[in-house]
Amino acid sequence: MTRTIHTQVAIIGAGPAGLLLSHLLHFRGIESIVLEVRSRAAVESTVRAGVLEQATVDLLTICGVGERLLREGHVHHGINLRFAGQTHRIDFERLTNGRAITIYAQHEVLRDLIQAANHAGREIIFEAHDVQVHDIDTSQPRVTFTQDGQPTEVHCDFVAGCDGFHGVCRPSIPAGAIDCHQCQLQIGWLGMLVEAAPSSKELIYARHERGFALVSTRTPHIQRLYLQCEPHDDVAAWTDERIWSELRIRLETREDWQLIQGRIFQKCIVTMRSFVADPMQYGRLYLAGDAAHIVPPTGAKGLNLALADVSVLAPALAEFFETGRSDSLEHYSETCLPRVWRAQRFSAWMTTALHRLPGMEDYKSRLQIAELEYVVHSQAASASLAENYVGFPLPAVAQASLAAGRSKTHVCGTGSTCT
Ligand code: FAD
Ligand code: PHB
Repeated sequence: MTRTIHTQVAIIGAGPAGLLLSHLLHFRGIESIVLEVRSRAAVESTVRAGVLEQATVDLLTICGVGERLLREGHVHHGINLRFAGQTHRIDFERLTNGRAITIYAQHEVLRDLIQAANHAGREIIFEAHDVQVHDIDTSQPRVTFTQDGQPTEVHCDFVAGCDGFHGVCRPSIPAGAIDCHQCQLQIGWLGMLVEAAPSSKELIYARHERGFALVSTRTPHIQRLYLQCEPHDDVAAWTDERIWSELRIRLETREDWQLIQGRIFQKCIVTMRSFVADPMQYGRLYLAGDAAHIVPPTGAKGLNLALADVSVLAPALAEFFETGRSDSLEHYSETCLPRVWRAQRFSAWMTTALHRLPGMEDYKSRLQIAELEYVVHSQAASASLAENYVGFPLPAVAQASLAAGRSKTHVCGTGSTCT
């Protein structure tokens, strides 16, 4: 027998977008249910992003899930660009009026959001299989799935497609109803987690003839390193010895600097693409995060964009439930897309400025160096990089909603609210 659940918003995907949306809706007294195909353990341990913009940190803090992030995250006031054997620091503090980024792993953000959901008694259904959305062009959409072999049907007012780039929501929109702007990049990243002390106080983005390398970090004892590779490379071909040798070559500098080695305990390959769905909505289905748009990770923007989307979607849904007005919902895409395209531009720029690209002959290689020389020696160009990297304030509607929420409630560290 099919089990039936009623809720206001069915959220597909317990990634950053889905979990924060559910949290923000709860703040406004709106019921939701989150359906996630993976197990809780898998969600809480998958290694992805690490760089949080200032606005993201503020957003998570204001809505009560920033306590651990503020305690355990590492604030960075700059990044380093390394090319032609030299390192150049981009000083965020000086160039952006004191703004900064915070290093805090994406799965830690997810753990905080899941804990807040549990505290508030909000349901997240993990291992929800065969999720399908139905009747999204009506005012009574449905979502079906199975859990432990039990067929279940969710009746709701809206569906939020927060199921990432490969999810089921975007493909359920009829062909031709949305435009998909995309560009496949012939670039892969081999990402490593290493047990070692940090090699650098701030991230190093390195451009080298053999390809890009990135030195990032997670904790004082765990480092995150990346190497540009072929998108279809086999991880097994990247032995530890080859990885360290390649990192040493690509990160070589005339300065006194040493790459600290350690045990590599995780390796994976990520392929890159750029994609934007326009509009980010169809009928009663609203897409958010990677389900709607994706960027290459060089600009560290994907997670930040996903959270910015739902900071717009939550108050728009709240306005509908509180007043019956759908103006903000109708403007959802229009509100989000300028930020999305700005991040697309910046991510594409960072990617082309730093990677070895297919068919890159001597002339293009020289142009790349000239571009980087300009960026690090021009105050205007460095400021442009810094401003984009630390990120822009959230859209005005999101800020207004957060400000209203803050003045009405006292936010507790656990994520629950005390009026
Ligand atoms: P996801 O995180 O993809 O979450 C979607 C969820 O939906 C998943 O849990 C998935 O299991 C679930 N799902 C999928 N299909 C279904 C289905 N059919 N039914 C139910 N559930 C489903 N961004 C930054 O901002 N800063 C960074 O430093 C950064 N670094 C990155 C480094 C790497 C190596 C990578 C790969 C990405 C990085 N990103 C970064 C991007 C960032 O990780 C993503 O943009 C972010 O995860 C998007 O969040 P999301 O919630 O939209 O989607
Ligand atoms: C990371 O730490 O995982 C990271 C940092 C910067 C990026 C991408 C990923 O641009």
